[in-house]
Amino acid sequence: MRAGTSAVESAAQLLAAVRAGGGPPTHVAVIMDGNGRWAYEHGLARWEGHREGMAAVRETVEGALEAGLAHLTLYAFSSENWSRPEEEVAALMDLLQEFVDSEKEDLRRNGVRVRVFGELDRLSESARAAVRDLEGHTREVGRMQLHLAISYGSRQEIVAALRTLAAEVARGELRPDAIDEERVAGALYTSEWPDPDLLIRTSGEMRISNFLLWQIAYAEIHVTDVLWPDFGRADLFRAILDFQGRERRFGGV
Ligand code: FPP
Repeated sequence: MRAGTSAVESAAQLLAAVRAGGGPPTHVAVIMDGNGRWAYEHGLARWEGHREGMAAVRETVEGALEAGLAHLTLYAFSSENWSRPEEEVAALMDLLQEFVDSEKEDLRRNGVRVRVFGELDRLSESARAAVRDLEGHTREVGRMQLHLAISYGSRQEIVAALRTLAAEVARGELRPDAIDEERVAGALYTSEWPDPDLLIRTSGEMRISNFLLWQIAYAEIHVTDVLWPDFGRADLFRAILDFQGRERRFGGV
């Protein structure tokens, strides 16, 4: 933690420090972790931790707007999460649809364009329709882009990209030696937006968990012990202040 960012500082003070700090990162990505532990600590069912997690999503989006981020990516549901108990998966899908219903108006009013990426064909028809509705509803606004990774796994994404490029080679449309970083990046779900500058993970776990493996090559990483349902805009601002204090070298000196 940098000097001047003690836990007692208010969100407003932290935001002022972010604004004075020389520009926010363009793109922040977040691994939202700890909903289950939060529920356990409060004597609640796991799904109630996810419900509180949804409130933290709302708070984080508002904080991202205040900080002036251009892109915010949230890891909402991983490919591996499909192996959780059926009731938990169903609760997460219900929350997703509830999120669309309760937030889509505010998101549009606040200028947040939502884009959803992942293996969406694995979602139920109603969940898929809900996320498509959210994307359509916010398509015309552009103050900030909120990217939701749903049914997402980075290795699966890279495999799909390689298949796309291999098919182009097989059809004679692409020479193997024309495959470069730009081509690979262009075949990923995230091809239309910049890579994250800052990756935040909550609940203290030091893992990447199959999230944006290609895209975080040069991201700064900030891990906080805060469990996701307790994460608020002050925590986001602290992470950004931590980022602003880093020296980014991109492999140079
Ligand atoms: C990790 O906590 C969190 C998830 C698997 C789901 C994230 C979902 C939300 C924050 C709510 C819905 C979000 C949207 C955008 C509608 P965990 O269950 O792995 O926690 P644990 O490691 O403590 O068990």
